[in-house]
Amino acid sequence: MTGSKQFAPAFLLHYFTTSLFHYFTYYYFRGLIHRTMHFELSEEHKSVQQAAREFAQNVLKPGVIERDELQKFPAEEVKQLAELGFMGMMVSPEYGGSGMDTLSYVIAMEEISKIDASTSVCMSVNNSLVTWGLEAFGSEEQKRKFLVPLANGEKIGAFCLSEPEAGSDATSQRTTAIDMGDHYLLNGTKNWITNGSSASTYLVMAQTDAAKGHKGINCLIVERGMPGFIVGAKENKLGIRGSDTHTLMFQDVKVPKENRIGEDGFGFKFAMKTLSGGRIGIAAQALGIAAGAYELALAYSKERKAFGKEISQHQAIAFKLADMATEIEAARLLVYKAAWLKDQHMNYDQASAIAKLYASEVAMKHTVEAVQIHGGYGFVKEYHVERLMRDAKITQIYEGTSEVQKIVISRGVLS
Ligand code: CAA
Repeated sequence: MTGSKQFAPAFLLHYFTTSLFHYFTYYYFRGLIHRTMHFELSEEHKSVQQAAREFAQNVLKPGVIERDELQKFPAEEVKQLAELGFMGMMVSPEYGGSGMDTLSYVIAMEEISKIDASTSVCMSVNNSLVTWGLEAFGSEEQKRKFLVPLANGEKIGAFCLSEPEAGSDATSQRTTAIDMGDHYLLNGTKNWITNGSSASTYLVMAQTDAAKGHKGINCLIVERGMPGFIVGAKENKLGIRGSDTHTLMFQDVKVPKENRIGEDGFGFKFAMKTLSGGRIGIAAQALGIAAGAYELALAYSKERKAFGKEISQHQAIAFKLADMATEIEAARLLVYKAAWLKDQHMNYDQASAIAKLYASEVAMKHTVEAVQIHGGYGFVKEYHVERLMRDAKITQIYEGTSEVQKIVISRGVLS
């Protein structure tokens, strides 16, 4: 009796504490699950998607074939994109931006890229390589002076890392920034610079102290019009022909010391950190190109008849559409995951490389299939898929080739 008397309160206490424990763990994990595995877009994200979709259809689509043919930069269209708040999407409103998250940015990038990848690369460079980098690492003065007009769309930015002999091997910078006390003397050439002649603000990587290797590289903010800064030839490209890609030359350009981003020698890390986010943007661009081609191929396959029925009813075409739908959805999940990791302030270096590698391979593969589904019509410009196929190729090259993404991924896997 005595034993059971003692047992009862002990049992009750045990029962009460374990129930409490289970109650809290249940709700804690349920909360976590809701936070981490929510596949539906929020109302805000759906509005961004709708706005980007309408903009792409109504503003970009009408002139996209002509701009591609004439290599015409979408200057007016980019101004309207800025009015929507899409040129500084992730920048805080304090610095002229829209204060949105990375997921909003990739959703908008996908929709714009479905129609016009030339416009979306201008948007991507301004958002993730220039304004994000300035907000994350710039000084307060740099943010006030340079970030605000870039984020509100008054000005356009460019990111200048690649050189004639430093593409994938980005540490081999030949452009020099000699320390002259109160300024740097900048000399060298940069290649394949997106927004080359339309930008006003350029983030230029240059070697200050070659003996220090990549630790001697700085990132300098160079303004259009600085004496000695020359915008060279425009590239005649296979794809994204409406984008503005140039060689830039710097001949004894005096860049004030206050235009250096971060500490002396921070330039290479700045470029790498910025490119990690940039790759999420290009992955979203590749996703949009693939999804745009898929949507066109699907619609065409339901209209076009051969051998007495719509071609979508032939298994040869239906299976292509099934492969496209599957791999595009997988690419979208990878892109969203990388964006989500960035928004959670978790490490996204590997996730962004995986998303870019996969989405760009999917874009190349399925734009070719979209042309194939269209048959002869796919080979002419009016049907849009040949342009998407040409545009897809660059997503496997810029902001790190597929091979560079594999370097980043394999190092992550093996670390
Ligand atoms: N974040 C922070 N630091 C990083 C980093 C990251 N994501 N990645 C590398 N670093 C650091 C390393 O830690 C190392 O620093 P420590 O010595 O202090 O440890 C330093 O940077 C050098 O790194 P690595 O030793 O890894 O350098 P590497 O020579 O082996 O090169 C690479 C690595 C991944 C291949 C790199 O050179 C690279 O990304 N190359 C591709 C460049 C690229 O993407 N160019 C695109 C041009 S921009 C463009 O296309 C824009 C446009 O217009 C559309």
